[in-house]
Amino acid sequence: MNNNSNPDLEMLSVPISYSVDAYISEDYARAERDKLWRKVWLQAGREEDIPHVGDFITFEIKDDSVILLRTAEDQISAYHNACPHRGRRLVDVPTGARNAKGHRKQFVCGFHGWRFDKDGNNTHIPHVEDWQGVLTPECTSLSKVNVGTWGGWIWINLDPDCEPLERYLDPVPEMLTPFELQNMRYRWRKWGVFNCNWKVAMEAFNETYHVQTTHPEFNQYGAFRGWAKSHGLHSNIGYERPKDMDANQAAKLRISDSAADPRIATAEMQNYTWTKANTNTTETLVKAANRLVDELPEGTPGDKVLQHWLASARADDATRGVIWPSVDPEHVGKSGTAWQVFPNFQIGHAVNNMLCYSARPYGDDPNKCIFEAAVYELFPKDGVPKTEWEFCPPTEEAWCYVLSQDFSNMEAVQQGMKSAGFRGPQPNPYMERSTANLHNNLAKYMGTGKPQIIKK
Ligand code: FES
Ligand SMILES: [Fe+2]
Repeated sequence: MNNNSNPDLEMLSVPISYSVDAYISEDYARAERDKLWRKVWLQAGREEDIPHVGDFITFEIKDDSVILLRTAEDQISAYHNACPHRGRRLVDVPTGARNAKGHRKQFVCGFHGWRFDKDGNNTHIPHVEDWQGVLTPECTSLSKVNVGTWGGWIWINLDPDCEPLERYLDPVPEMLTPFELQNMRYRWRKWGVFNCNWKVAMEAFNETYHVQTTHPEFNQYGAFRGWAKSHGLHSNIGYERPKDMDANQAAKLRISDSAADPRIATAEMQNYTWTKANTNTTETLVKAANRLVDELPEGTPGDKVLQHWLASARADDATRGVIWPSVDPEHVGKSGTAWQVFPNFQIGHAVNNMLCYSARPYGDDPNKCIFEAAVYELFPKDGVPKTEWEFCPPTEEAWCYVLSQDFSNMEAVQQGMKSAGFRGPQPNPYMERSTANLHNNLAKYMGTGKPQIIKK
């Protein structure tokens, strides 16, 4: 990786542009396998996907498939999903499924019957004597993959010499650990194959600049200015809030005093978000919002409405054993509404729910990607819903209205960027810094595509 020495570019506080190759070039898409996907830490699943010793899931990224196996109550191991004999995948992903999953005491290759224990050691080779004694554990065991956990996710790195996960993720853990994301569980999780590059899909969500136009309905709930900040490899986004709204504990709330009656505006926005986005809120929050007109007198200012609403929702949840973490309001403000973990994972965090996106390539085709979104929530221990990855076309019926608004831009961006007349993306230096940051870092990994400062 070449070091980028221009401090303006590192801060990304200046207007920049870069080549569209990252989105549309087949050569670039092919090169990503070795230069990017085999070098970075990737979110590959959730710890609760494999609760018991012997449970496994696979994670597929371009040509690589990785088996994530719980090998002890507090230990997860990862192996390349390839038999060391002649390379057969040890575990097949069922047709149409996102990944394989199951429970095994041992893995038996379906081709010639080589066997492996949970630690990846070979335990049986039919007619082993035919190899004349040359087969050592080094050449018959499963190849290991670096694995780590943070935030309740399982992370893998295909580079044997990679840096430690904690260092790679810095400063994301410091900023998000107070939100106790590891305690949240899926409310729903969906995936699909979309007609755009994986970066186009991620960039539909890593900025707030699009909200006023793509989601015009939200404008009625107040217009807060969005920001984006780069933090080395990663970045975050958020909204600037008026001073009197420090108590805002749930991200993405844009209720303002400018609304006619903040009690009603809060309830309306919650109901809209619940029914039209199915993200970023919970039933408890919606119910508490709907009680505001009964519980507070007319004329209650916005910040008091917000405080009361969040306190009563917090208390409601506590009665059913759902305890929200308490996070210092200043920290909440700094953490913003979402983090972009390089290269392809976004965490939209809050104290009691979160919305996460990821996108990865679909083979070598730069015009397609596998897109995923999952909503998580704090549930009572015995009230965690059973969910599976649901394959969905990018429609309103499958994903709800608000996400379909975002999807409506994706294929059109992919097409427009191929136009002979398109000069290259010019992201907003303040609100779309996360996109600039992504490409600045991609350029370091890929050795090409370094953003250029746009001069007057
Ligand atoms: S390829 Fe696995 S046993 Fe032959
Ligand atoms: Fe959006």
